[in-house]
Order: sequence, then structure tokens, then C-alpha cells
Amino acid sequence: MGNKRPDDMERITNEALAKAFIDEQIKEIKAQVGDKKVLLALSGGVDSSVVAALLIKAIGKNLVCVHVNHGLLRKGEPEQVIEVFRNQMDANLIYVDAVDRFLDKLAGVSDPEKKRKIIGAEFIRVFEEEARKLEGIEFLAQGTIYPDILESDGVKSHHNVGGLPDDLKFELVEPVKLLFKDEVRVVGKALGLPDKMVYRQPFPGPGLGVRCLGAITRDRLELVRESDAILRDEFAKNGLAGKVWQYFTVVPDFKSVGVGENGRTFAYPVIIRAVNTVDAMTATVENVPFELLQKITERITHEIKGVNRVLFDITPKPVATIEWE
Ligand code: XMP
Repeated sequence: MGNKRPDDMERITNEALAKAFIDEQIKEIKAQVGDKKVLLALSGGVDSSVVAALLIKAIGKNLVCVHVNHGLLRKGEPEQVIEVFRNQMDANLIYVDAVDRFLDKLAGVSDPEKKRKIIGAEFIRVFEEEARKLEGIEFLAQGTIYPDILESDGVKSHHNVGGLPDDLKFELVEPVKLLFKDEVRVVGKALGLPDKMVYRQPFPGPGLGVRCLGAITRDRLELVRESDAILRDEFAKNGLAGKVWQYFTVVPDFKSVGVGENGRTFAYPVIIRAVNTVDAMTATVENVPFELLQKITERITHEIKGVNRVLFDITPKPVATIEWE
């Protein structure tokens, strides 16, 4: 398979076409890797999950999935990866709890680009360590999709730098590299992946790390994670989850004064961001109903200790970026 999508390649828009694609890929994967072992960094995002499910169908336990929990994932994500892949699909899954390692490395670092670099470099290091523990790996599977190839200077490749050292340069297996995102989702659905995984909003590689502004602390990171979970829950309950392109919360590194049951409080604010875009290069703000914003504010300030203010970011891109860092 080359890196150019043939002009006559049919767009995968339904289950029948997805099933045909899956059958063809299973044959191709088997032909490429035979009875050799394949390694995959499984984040739980749409692309790596679809690649994992395809490879499990093709080669079963010869696929070794490594899920690195860097502590910057959303609430419930590591558990979901384990439930879906280990428990339901019987995958060969290595779960690496690297939370302390990442948070220790990030302690005191406030520059956004430095934070990104540390997260990226540490991720490669953890993955490399796991790869070295394994024997007989000859292939590396990747969830490269067609826009990654088309826009080699696009968002994903621009943000996510780094790779494995030369002695660990495996031959690549990239079964969805000619597909667009919507096609990957149709294939994921046909592979039996849960909707929660297939229709997930985009999530940056450095995860909640770029939403816990400034130097990451464990207490503020939990505020980001818990407020994000409430926002997602309310968007799902109110029919916005499948409609809004990306929505999340941000916690800055300053406090403000509020008033609670026992008088004055001094606590963190939570910022809500909800945007729509086609290509992430420009974005408009979702017109979230005011009553829903009030409900979310009430939940965040009552259910989470340490938050006394909620703000809604109404800035389009440009002038702001989608993320705050
Ligand atoms: P910005 O903030 O640049 O974000 O307007 C555009 C899109 O890119 C995502 N994003 C990232 N994705 N690694 C990623 O994989 C990153 O470091 C990163 N930073 C931003 C962001 O979530 C949005 O969808």
C-alpha cells in the first residue's frame, strides 16, 4: 500500500463497505507480518483503537498493545481501554502506570512548549523501555490516517514530535493510513468498538497537561479531570456530545475570592471551552444554552471542592487558539 489514496477509492460510508475494508486489511496484515509480533502504543483514541481492533482480528495475541497512563488522561479512560481491549477483546495488553513518573518530571515546569516536550519525550522513553522488555517484535503498528500524510505540517505532526531510537526502528504497519477520520469511525463501529470510543472528540497527545495551566500540580489536575467529566456528562445528556467538535475545561494557576457556607473562600476558577471547526485551523464558539451553562456551573462548584468560579470562553480562533497552552 502506497501513501497516496487512489483516485477511484470509494469513500467508506456504511457498514458493508467497512466490512469489505476490514476483510481486505486482515488479509494484507497477515501477508505483511505472518506469525511475527507487532507492537502498538494504544492511547484509546479513535485511530489507535481501530488499528488495535483490526490487528486483533488479524493476528490475535501477536499484537502487543502498550497503554501508557501518563496521568493526563480524562476520567475513566485508562479503565475503558482495559475493559474494551483486555476484558472484551482478549487483547495482549500491557498497562503501564507511569503517572508518578510524568508528574515528577513536570513538577515546577510552567512553559507550555517545555511541558509538551517533556510529555512527548517521556512517552517515548516509557514506550521504549516496554519495547526493550519484549522479545521478537518486528513490526510497529501506528494509527496514521490520511490527513496526517496530506498535512505533514498539519496540527498532529506539528505538535507531536519524536520517535523511537534507531535500534528500535521496526517495520511499520499502518492499516488506516489512506482513510479519512469519518471512515475510521465507520470502520471502528463495524469492528464492534463502543460508541464512546468511536465518536470521541479529538484529544491532544499531552492530554489534560495543556489544560492544567502553568506548572502542573496534582490538586489542580484533579480539578481539570473532574470538571471535564461533569462537562462531558452534561453535554451528553443534553444532546451536544455528538454535535460540538471539541469541549473541555481548563484550570488556571491562580485563585480568586468567593463566598461559601463558612464565609470567604479563596479557590480556583474553571474555564469552559466548546468549539466547532472543520480543520482545527480556525474555530468558532458553540452557542451553549445559558441554562445549561448555569447547570454545569452549579454542578462544578457544588460537586468539586476547591472551585469557586466558572467562566465560559467566547473567543474564536483566531485570535485565540483552541487550547489555552
Ligand atoms: P490549537 O490549540 O493549536 O489546537 O488551536 C488545535 C487542535 O489541536 C489539538 N492540539 C494538539 N494535539 N498534540 C496533539 O496531538 C498537541 O500537543 C496539541 N495541542 C493542541 C487541540 O486539542 C485542537 O484540537
